Amino acid sequence: MSHVTEAAVREALGTIIDPDLRKDIVTLGFVRDLAINEGDVSFRIVLTTPACPVKEEMESQAREIVSGLDGVINVNVTMDAEVPQGRGIKNNIAIPGVRNIIAVSSGKGGVGKSTVAVNLAVALAADGAKVGIMDADVYGPNVPLMLGTGYDQPDVIDGQLKPIEAHGIKMISMAVLVPPDKPMILRGPMLHGVVRQFLTDVNWGELDYLVVDMPPGTGDVQLSLAQLVPVQGAILVTTPQEVSLSDVRRAIKMFEQVNIPVLGVVENMSYFIAPDTGTKYEIFGKGGGQKLADEYSLNLLGQVPLGMEVREGGDNGIPVVISAPDSPQAAAFRSTAEEVARHVSIEAMKPELVIMSRAN
Ligand SMILES: Nc1ncnc2c1ncn2[C@@H]1O[C@H](COP(=O)(O)OP(=O)(O)OP(=O)(O)O)[C@@H](O)[C@H]1O
Ligand SMILES: [Mg+2]
Repeated sequence: MSHVTEAAVREALGTIIDPDLRKDIVTLGFVRDLAINEGDVSFRIVLTTPACPVKEEMESQAREIVSGLDGVINVNVTMDAEVPQGRGIKNNIAIPGVRNIIAVSSGKGGVGKSTVAVNLAVALAADGAKVGIMDADVYGPNVPLMLGTGYDQPDVIDGQLKPIEAHGIKMISMAVLVPPDKPMILRGPMLHGVVRQFLTDVNWGELDYLVVDMPPGTGDVQLSLAQLVPVQGAILVTTPQEVSLSDVRRAIKMFEQVNIPVLGVVENMSYFIAPDTGTKYEIFGKGGGQKLADEYSLNLLGQVPLGMEVREGGDNGIPVVISAPDSPQAAAFRSTAEEVARHVSIEAMKPELVIMSRAN
C-alpha cells in the first residue's frame, strides 16, 4: 500500500470552506504543522477565534476527509486559534497587546449593556480567548459590582495600572479613577485625558478581545469615547420595544459618523418563560431586534431572555454564564459571544484575506 502524500492531504483539506471567510482552509493558511508518518497524518487547524461556532464541525469534516484518503490509517487533528489583529486599531492610539476592541453600546440606559458586556467577556474567556473588559461608563460604572471585584484601587506597577482579575477576565473600571459615590462630570479635554489614561496606562498584557462597556446614549461624551477608543466593531444592545429601537437608530448613526462598523444587534429581555408553567411572555414586544437588523442590514447577534438568574448574577458579582451555566440565558450569552467573535474575525480578515496564507 502506498503512503499518502502531503500534497494529497492539502488537496483534500482544500475542499473545506470556511463559511464566513468563504475561502478554503488551506488557502487561508489555517492548516499548519502537517506531518505524515507512514499511515499517520497529523496537523493543526488554526482558526481565527477559539469561540468559533463551527469548530467541532470543521474538525470532524477534516478528520473524515483525510481518513478517506488512500494509505491513511490514523488522523490526528488539533484545533487551535489565533485571533487576528483588528484593522481599526492600526491607525489609532495603539494599545499594546490588544488585538480587538469591541464596544458594547446602546441608545438608552438600562437595556442591559453592562450585563451583556460582562457575560460576553466571560463567555469568550471560557472558550479559551484572552479577554479584558473596560468599564467606560462615566455615568455609572458598575462592572466591578457585576464581577464581584468591589471598588478597590488597582495596583500600579512600573507606572501602569494592573487590571483586576475575576472570572477569567481582566477588568479596569472608570470607577477605580473616581469613587462610585461621586459621579463623574467629564467634558471635552478632561474626558480625553481620562480615556487616554485608560488606553495607555493600563497594562493589559496580551488580549484577544477587549470589551468596552460604553455609557448609555449618543451625546458628546459617547461620541468622544467612540473617537478615542480604537474600536474594531460596536455591538448595540436593545430591548424589543419600539421606543428602545428608535434610540438604537441614533446609536447606529453615531458609529457611522466615526467610521466604526456595527457588528450587530443584541436583543436583551427578549421574552420571559415562566418557570412554573413554561409559558412564554413577550413582555417588551416581539421581533424588534430582527426588525432593526433587517432595516439596517445588521446581524442579529443574539436574543437573551429575561431571567431572575441574570439579575441575581449581576447583583452577586457572578455572571449568569458562570452562576447558572445551564440556564437558557447563559446559553443565549454563549451563542451571542460566538456570533460576536465570528463577526470580529470577518471584519479583521476583510481587507487582507491573504495575510494568513503565508503561514504553514
Ligand atoms: N436578560 C435579563 N434578565 C433579567 N434581568 C436583566 C437582564 N438583562 C439585564 N438585567 C438587569 O437589568 C438591570 C439593568 O441592566 P444593566 O445594568 O446591564 O443595563 P445597562 O444598559 O448597562 O444600564 P446603564 O445604562 O445604567 O449602564 C440590571 O439589574 C440587570 O441585572
Ligand atoms: Mg451599564
